[in-house]
Amino acid sequence: MAVKINTAFLKGFIQENELPLIAPFCELAHNALHSGDGAGSDFLGWLNLPEYYGMNPEGKAELTRIKDAAARIRANSEVVIVLGIGGSYLGARAVIEAIKGSLYNSRPQQGTPELYFAGNSLSPAYMNEILSLITDRDYSVVVVSKSGTTTETALAFRIFKELIEKKYGQDGAKERIIAITDKARGTLKELADKKGYETFVIPDDVGGRFSVLTAVGLLPIAIAGCDVDALMAGSEAGMWAAANPDLFENDCYKYAAIRNLLLRKGYKIEMLVSYENSFAMMNEWFKQLFGESEGKDGKGLFPASATFSTDLHSLGQYIQDGARMLFETVLWFKETDSDLFLKDEPENLDGLNFLSGQNMSAVCEKAFQGTLLAHTEGRTPNIILELPKLDEFELGHLIYFFEKSCAISGYLLGVNPFDQPGVESYKKNMFALLGKPGFEAEKAELLAKLG
Ligand code: PA5
Repeated sequence: MAVKINTAFLKGFIQENELPLIAPFCELAHNALHSGDGAGSDFLGWLNLPEYYGMNPEGKAELTRIKDAAARIRANSEVVIVLGIGGSYLGARAVIEAIKGSLYNSRPQQGTPELYFAGNSLSPAYMNEILSLITDRDYSVVVVSKSGTTTETALAFRIFKELIEKKYGQDGAKERIIAITDKARGTLKELADKKGYETFVIPDDVGGRFSVLTAVGLLPIAIAGCDVDALMAGSEAGMWAAANPDLFENDCYKYAAIRNLLLRKGYKIEMLVSYENSFAMMNEWFKQLFGESEGKDGKGLFPASATFSTDLHSLGQYIQDGARMLFETVLWFKETDSDLFLKDEPENLDGLNFLSGQNMSAVCEKAFQGTLLAHTEGRTPNIILELPKLDEFELGHLIYFFEKSCAISGYLLGVNPFDQPGVESYKKNMFALLGKPGFEAEKAELLAKLG
């Protein structure tokens, strides 16, 4: 099994009889999910994406089209800007950085363009920084928005569309803009049809934060030169591994059950931890997936994250010794293809010869073990998720593992894991304050509140 849960460091936090007690509820959640009887059942398309791309003729054809588009963009672009926010960018960026490294854009690439993500904030400074990167270089734009109306993304696209049309003309721009959006609705779809951009469809039944294994994630991931076939093969392995209704045979469900038990005991914060710098954006993807899926109706674990050993020098004190309200889910990749051998130094001025003769990864492993012992001693429960290594296959497996455990977690909690009503509140206020037509009544009220 690629993702394996290790519960050895939950002793004293969860009793042996507690998993059997929650098992029937897991089975109910499994049945609701697989029969389509649960809340939000219009959004279950992600469950079968590995099969769709692996076996369905339409899915296979789309995967080929994604790879062809990626090859075309790789050939004609030094830089690619991916516009999107939330589920429309996090997964793509997370996979690319996890596989290619967090310094991907700073290294000379082998036939793949630099990739930057914009349209995910309203910061003019960030936008100007991105714009300064493309002035004299060949670039393409991938714009991703399921609704096709998200302000951050639409605003960024307006700016890039003007620039790209000015530089390459209408026909040239058509070759360099790809839109990933709803099959029928939204202004982006209308615009793409009118301008003749190549488009990919985000299926109706796949919500933003569950969309990384559609063209939303797969196109940018393929442009960066990652192996999307291996990613999908891994997700398929994850799908089969997580298909068993019996939680004692299914680590994905066991993880969902344990985090639910910990929440009931007052551990309200889950901190996802890894020892890989390149995993930092996967942490962000995880936080969106679980935060937006569970945080509603006054319920839900708060998802947080850390990169160790880096953050042991910032958050470590709190985890060891602060208020007892968080648990850690630690991802441990057992092997690495990228290691460093530590040599003996005759003078030993830095006193580090006790580390000589081993790989740096072995030192990291001791940090992992030492931290586990220290933090559990300090009364912070630790769930360990072990993976053989960090590559496309294992990451595909892990993505499916988290998506399905998130759905089961939501059902165990009694919430609809597939909606996000809370995200609308800030938008309504922002539109009213900006004077968008249709929000006149709210505007006066909000201005009075702001004083
Ligand atoms: O998970 C979600 O549904 C959200 O995070 C969306 O992905 C995000 O709000 C962007 O929406 P859209 O793709 O419609 O622009």
